[in-house]
Amino acid sequence: MKVDILTLFPEMFTPLEESIIGRAKEAGKIEITVHDIRNYTLNKHKKCDDYPFGGGAGMVMTPQPIASAIEAIDPEHKAHRIFTSPKGETFKQSFVSRLISYDWIIILCGHYEGVDQRVIDLYIDEEISIGDYVLTGGELPAMVITDCLARYCDGVISTDSLSEESFSAGLLEYPQYTRPQEFKGLKVPDVLLSGNHGEVDKWRYEKSLEITKKNRPDLLK
Ligand SMILES: C[S@@+](CC[C@H](N)C(=O)[O-])C[C@H]1O[C@@H](n2cnc3c(N)ncnc32)[C@H](O)[C@@H]1O
Repeated sequence: MKVDILTLFPEMFTPLEESIIGRAKEAGKIEITVHDIRNYTLNKHKKCDDYPFGGGAGMVMTPQPIASAIEAIDPEHKAHRIFTSPKGETFKQSFVSRLISYDWIIILCGHYEGVDQRVIDLYIDEEISIGDYVLTGGELPAMVITDCLARYCDGVISTDSLSEESFSAGLLEYPQYTRPQEFKGLKVPDVLLSGNHGEVDKWRYEKSLEITKKNRPDLLK
């Protein structure tokens, strides 16, 4: 999968160089390119924002640099183009199977008060929010979406890990334990040390149900 990210703050994307995503990039399992929108502005002072028509607080990202960036990167509109926005549909695990089916996605990051609506009308296929709160920019949402999709690119993590985790079967995951068997007086549940896989599976399912009922009863509806 190929992901192109458009931002005014490319230096914010260093987390994608680390850990599992960094290794996946190096191994060519996912191609992530971060583009600086400022490189596409025709403004001699490299300005990419301006005051909102109609008044109001803050600045709005101007359409020309974004339009030029998208037209240069994807002139034939082959990529699925996403704009990160609190006004979008809320990102969920269930989005992954659809989004991963695109070979190529472009993610536009807004900043300040957002971007000129004409860019969204002309160039964007889908607006995605990562939750009901407002952040300073779309950079963290772009990383959230990219990280989540990267986990499902072939060979990035084991398929076992993907099949037994929160949301995979409509439930939250059971508690996990590792060494030591006792830590600060708290012991690992005996069943996990029993070697009885049937009992382990039963315990894990019951715990998943219990945690889901407590924290996310909406998932059980
Ligand atoms: C300060 S926000 C703009 C908020 C906008 N004025 C509003 O009220 O909807 C700046 C940018 O951050 C990004 N952003 C903020 N919160 C977000 C969220 N929950 N999900 C996705 N993107 C978000 C968007 O790209 C947005 O254009």
